[in-house]
Amino acid sequence: MENKDYLELRKEFGSPIFVYEEEKLRHAATEMLSFKAPFGLKIRFAMKANSNRTILRLFDSMGIHIDASSDFEVQRAILAGIDTSKILLTSQEIPNDIKKTVDTGIEYNATSLHQLEEYGKAFHGGDISIRINPGEMGIDSSSHDKTKVNGEDAGFGIQHASLIDAKGIISKYNLKVIRLHTHIGSGSDPEAWAEAAKVSSSFLKEFPETKILNLGGGFKVGRMPGEKNANIAEISERVSKMLEDFHAETGRKIFLELEPGTFLTANAGTILATIQDVTIDVNKILKLDCGMSEIIRPALYGAEHHLTVIPATERQEEYEEAIVIGHACEHADVLTAGKARKMLRAQIGDILLIGGAGSYCSSMATKNYCSFPEAAEVMIDLNGKARLIRKRQTMQQMIQNEL
Ligand SMILES: Cc1ncc(COP(=O)(O)O)c(C=O)c1O
Repeated sequence: MENKDYLELRKEFGSPIFVYEEEKLRHAATEMLSFKAPFGLKIRFAMKANSNRTILRLFDSMGIHIDASSDFEVQRAILAGIDTSKILLTSQEIPNDIKKTVDTGIEYNATSLHQLEEYGKAFHGGDISIRINPGEMGIDSSSHDKTKVNGEDAGFGIQHASLIDAKGIISKYNLKVIRLHTHIGSGSDPEAWAEAAKVSSSFLKEFPETKILNLGGGFKVGRMPGEKNANIAEISERVSKMLEDFHAETGRKIFLELEPGTFLTANAGTILATIQDVTIDVNKILKLDCGMSEIIRPALYGAEHHLTVIPATERQEEYEEAIVIGHACEHADVLTAGKARKMLRAQIGDILLIGGAGSYCSSMATKNYCSFPEAAEVMIDLNGKARLIRKRQTMQQMIQNEL
């Protein structure tokens, strides 16, 4: 995409907008699908990263299944046209009616003893998946305390130390554990993935019937210059070696599942925003027409995103340091993590592109805070043509459920 393309996009669709590129989505998906797994592989898209149905359908057409994180995501995926047999629900919140949800044809992954018990009551003798939190084993390679998913103080999954209780429930209801699930957030380090796989293989030994191992997501992508993407080929070498060793040792052929969200979408999406105001009193501060209502990651965990100024007028290129802030009345709504960043000298009316915004942005932001409407979303197809894939929310839609 060139500068003029962004200026054209703004003319056609307004600002702020999310811009996704089909080519990049397909590229990331193809790379993930090339993951080597000696006894079979299924990739599930962690749809909480981006739940727009055009994106769900695109991945579906490439043979990617769904990791849903709530009963509502299950409903959303079904409404997008995804076959229920392709959906695995791994949720913190138990569905209100677990029987009804599972009877749609989805698979269910119990993430707590309570969920396991409720599943057992509803499906005596049925197949079940369980998510295990390695807990006291101290394994977690997430990049930030706020994205930590394992450990004794993290409430995701059945604690490893409680497996004895889980086994009690499993035998009480005569359940068959067909899948073990761990999500360790292993980032880009092949060593960390190998370690996660090794720990998971020790869990597999405790469940001799289990044929599927789901290692969750957490493949890092480089959002800032100099940051690297996880090397899928290298990681898959390490994980497949573990599966082969496990086979040699036990004779069991384990089918592998992975649930990337970030890896599939992060760098395929950009927020196109407009610089609405420039303050030069003390610091140079650029104020945007978007912010935590579109991208909350910087406020939530100090995430850094690549920022590019696209000048709206022809002028000489000069660089300077600037702070970039969002449009909410919150000091946390800042895109430059508290410190100025060197960028092209900007003027009011220029475009500011926020990179790495294809995951956990549109789906996660503080919807309607300060009554900002949800931004429109645009997809650039393989021929470079832009089409609207979500309209900007109207004021009427924002207030329609208020009485
Ligand atoms: C169970 C599970 N699977 C998959 C993911 C996706 O992680 P990522 O987007 O980092 O790949 C998450 C994220 O928190 C998760 O909790």
